[in-house]
Amino acid sequence: MTLPARKFKNPSARHNYQGHACSIVSVGSYVPARILTNADLEKMVDTSDEWILSRTGIKERRIASKYQSTSDLATQAALRAMSRAKISPDDIDLIILATITPDMPFPSTACAVQRKIGAFNAAAFDVQAACSGFIYGLEIGQQFIMSRTYETVLVIGAEKLSSIVNWKDRNTCVLFGDGAGAAILRNRAGAHGLMTACMRADGRLTDLLCVPAGGSACPPSHETVNAGLHFLRMDGKETFKKAVTAMHSVANEALRRCELDISQIKCVIPHQANRRIIDAVAERLGAKPEQLFVNLEKYGNTSAASVAIALDEAVQSGCIQRGDLVLMVVFGAGLTWAAAVIEW
Ligand code: ACO
Repeated sequence: MTLPARKFKNPSARHNYQGHACSIVSVGSYVPARILTNADLEKMVDTSDEWILSRTGIKERRIASKYQSTSDLATQAALRAMSRAKISPDDIDLIILATITPDMPFPSTACAVQRKIGAFNAAAFDVQAACSGFIYGLEIGQQFIMSRTYETVLVIGAEKLSSIVNWKDRNTCVLFGDGAGAAILRNRAGAHGLMTACMRADGRLTDLLCVPAGGSACPPSHETVNAGLHFLRMDGKETFKKAVTAMHSVANEALRRCELDISQIKCVIPHQANRRIIDAVAERLGAKPEQLFVNLEKYGNTSAASVAIALDEAVQSGCIQRGDLVLMVVFGAGLTWAAAVIEW
């Protein structure tokens, strides 16, 4: 079958290949009902609403119940995206799930989601790129679509970070929250699409942000638990500096690849970790405040779910309309960072 050539705004964009486009046909997200406010945290650790808000921009975050695992959050987000795309579980060829808080070390959380949504025709695997996981997942999904290996790919970013946060450590516990976001990718000739995604990593800086124990390098034991090595640890200051430089550089790279100027972007969706990081990156990029989509104040940093939830909220609230250009940029442990340009 000969497919009609797609008239992209940008002929240089990779998805112009043979007239095909990897289109995000729908998105969905889910956050748990329980809200933990800064006032609640004041009762748990030596902190204040004023400190958290002025240093991070976060007012509250969502916390999953003890009965909800990451796959439960992911399943809710996936079902919403599937319903909006009007597809059945049987239509899904591949499930890619990005998380640093899997249900268990193995098997994959993607397989747990496959079971819960009943997508038994699908292959399924997890991606581990911390806060960059959703864009890593989109790029991997796009590769399968553009190679014509699969027709329909479900990409999910989902986290239950409350399960690895030390609730006695004020340096980290105020920053994180739980949630999930999902996207359905399909091969659509002549449709809007994912124009480019740039992925980067620097394994020399692993120690800046990690969970030290629980894996093969330091298996779990009474000693590791007593020392709190199963909790997330972060050098906040260094992470902050690296995040600003890396996000600025990869966002520029993505724009360059598409021959776009920041002024042509309708909506910039940055990783929702810290308002000061977002503002510093926006300033360096030359993005105007009205171009930024920020929901950090409601959810805190939800790692792999962060930009996935934000993309869904930007679409559902009408901030992004079909045909708009969207720039997503993320940064996380690894270190990893990534940016994607979408013609919505
Ligand atoms: N309440 C009150 N005081 C606090 C709190 C708190 N919750 N947390 C830290 N402090 C104190 C510190 O102990 C320190 O006190 P000291 O000077 O007496 O030692 C003081 O506040 C200042 O701490 P700083 O580290 O200088 O605070 P900073 O302005 O750097 O903000 C923060 C800290 C918010 C963590 C910031 O560094 C940050 O956002 N870093 C980046 C996080 C990030 O982007 N992560 C992305 C990846 S996440 C992932 O991949 C899972």
